[in-house]
Amino acid sequence: MFYPEEIVEEVRSRNNIVDVISGYVKMQKRGSNYFGLCPFHNEKSPSFSVSPDKQMYYCFGCGAGGNVITFVMEYENYSFKEALESLADRVGMELPKEEESKEARAHAELRVTLLKINKLAANYFYFQLKQPQGKQGYDYLTGRKLSDETIRRFGLGFANKTSNDLYLYLKSKNYSDQVLAQTGLVTVEERGSHDKFWNRVMFPIMDVNNRVIGFGGRVMGDGTPKYLNSPETRLFDKSRNLYGLNYARTSREKYMLVCEGYMDVIALHQAGFTNAVASLGTAFTSQHGMILKRYTDQVILTYDSDGAGVKAALRAIPILKDVGISCKVLNMKPYKDPDEFIKNLGAEAFRERIEKARNSFLFEIDVLKQEFNFEDPEQKTGFYNRVAEKLLSFSDALERDNYIQAVSKEYLINYQDLKQLVNRLSLRISPVAEAAMERRPETVLREKKKEKEDGVKRSQRLLLTWLIENPLLFDKIEGIITPEDFRDQLYHQVAQMVFDGHKTGDLNPAGILNRFINDEVQYKEVAGLFNASLREELNPEEQRKAFSEIVKKVKKNSLDEASRRAADIGQLQKIIQAQNELKNLNL
Ligand code: CTP
Ligand code: MN
Repeated sequence: MFYPEEIVEEVRSRNNIVDVISGYVKMQKRGSNYFGLCPFHNEKSPSFSVSPDKQMYYCFGCGAGGNVITFVMEYENYSFKEALESLADRVGMELPKEEESKEARAHAELRVTLLKINKLAANYFYFQLKQPQGKQGYDYLTGRKLSDETIRRFGLGFANKTSNDLYLYLKSKNYSDQVLAQTGLVTVEERGSHDKFWNRVMFPIMDVNNRVIGFGGRVMGDGTPKYLNSPETRLFDKSRNLYGLNYARTSREKYMLVCEGYMDVIALHQAGFTNAVASLGTAFTSQHGMILKRYTDQVILTYDSDGAGVKAALRAIPILKDVGISCKVLNMKPYKDPDEFIKNLGAEAFRERIEKARNSFLFEIDVLKQEFNFEDPEQKTGFYNRVAEKLLSFSDALERDNYIQAVSKEYLINYQDLKQLVNRLSLRISPVAEAAMERRPETVLREKKKEKEDGVKRSQRLLLTWLIENPLLFDKIEGIITPEDFRDQLYHQVAQMVFDGHKTGDLNPAGILNRFINDEVQYKEVAGLFNASLREELNPEEQRKAFSEIVKKVKKNSLDEASRRAADIGQLQKIIQAQNELKNLNL
């Protein structure tokens, strides 16, 4: 659903950013701004600021910044639409309704019904667990060292031995057989309907919004199947859901732990690792990867230490890499899985393992190595060749060299030899790859140029910030600086809005930011734009000087660029004159 810009702006302006953020972050007023501990990174002294004037937030520590909508998006991990709806709701504003087809409405209604039924069932199982008939289940769970608090938090329950009590319970709530058949919880048959789960401990599976979308049930002992899961339903799509993500998503840890099973997630959370999730009984998919990418760019794989776990890790690594998540692999030995590890060695030991987790590339090499017998020279050479091949997968020369160094150190291969081997291979594979091997002079030049660009961009950024913070400065630059002097395309766009806003007396940073909200990269940059103020306390004279210098720098760059593009001699003369005037400019 696409909301028109006016609606988005209305939602934004009706939600005062200070009120909203106060609900999440404890803040104190200092000067005209509010300060608190940044919710987006770990810190001990407050560098997170909220400006009531600009209706924006900015963290001087980690650079997170934006308006009230982006705050809710980032904090709650909401999509734009979700954030907008929750903020509209907060101020009692009604958003325009989507035009729905009859079919779509029926579909949506069924989903809502199925969710209600799942919730009823989860409550029913939880209730059973605490009854005399649930004692076996309760004992099983506590026997596996789960606390009452953990059982409650994960809503664990019990499906008792009666074969149709859940069915009868749901019927008593007036749900039709036709609907119940679609829940995956019961099998509806003429001769008599019965429950899918019985005599098992129950694990409700929740989506990121804490809605129960399915169940897993475990036998209390050695029966088969060990786990029985809800079939895929309208609600439950295994390749798109990660168990534990509803809690893990609000963990403030920078990385996520990805493990195999229900019990692993639960044991990890109970031990304080609330950033653990599992892909349930299915391989890790690229959809899982993309979902995780919304929350983190670092994963530590904590799969089982057996062959299947290693295989699963080898499959997950490239998937994670593809979506831009860097990953490490935790060594669980001598235990099978996180649940067993923690039960035996405790949380502290697990944390140490996290710190020692192996870089995923080196993990792959470790596994590869096991295929070769090093006593045999031929096999040893074979291993080196395979390693060199794998090293070629790094297209960035610097990164590749770092890995060549690491591998040569770890596996006691002479660095120069390995590097040569990689180079030779690359020649055989493609001449282009070879060209990328060495850092060419052009790259160095390009980097130098980039540094200069950054300096110029920074001046443009500062100038915009200052103009927003102190609109009186507009008078000073009158006739000198125009939006066109902001040569960067994005900055130009923003500058145009800032100048226009000043002219109409409606300079509204948070509103300007709204126009970029659909592009994450752009909005972050624009948010940073409005907050790049000089942190040093300058006295008025120093401020005047600094401002004057920045104006000159921005103008100079603009004129220099114009002169490079000048079409005729007349134009060039004008530019040269302006360049001379600029030298004598005194603001
Ligand atoms: N699984 C499944 N069906 C099975 C076996 C496993 O769906 N028959 C899924 C479950 O989600 C399970 C995960 O695969 O949590 C990992 O399986 P496994 O390692 O065998 O079980 P554990 O998680 O170690 O379970 P437990 O500790 O209870 O034995
Ligand atoms: Mn286990």
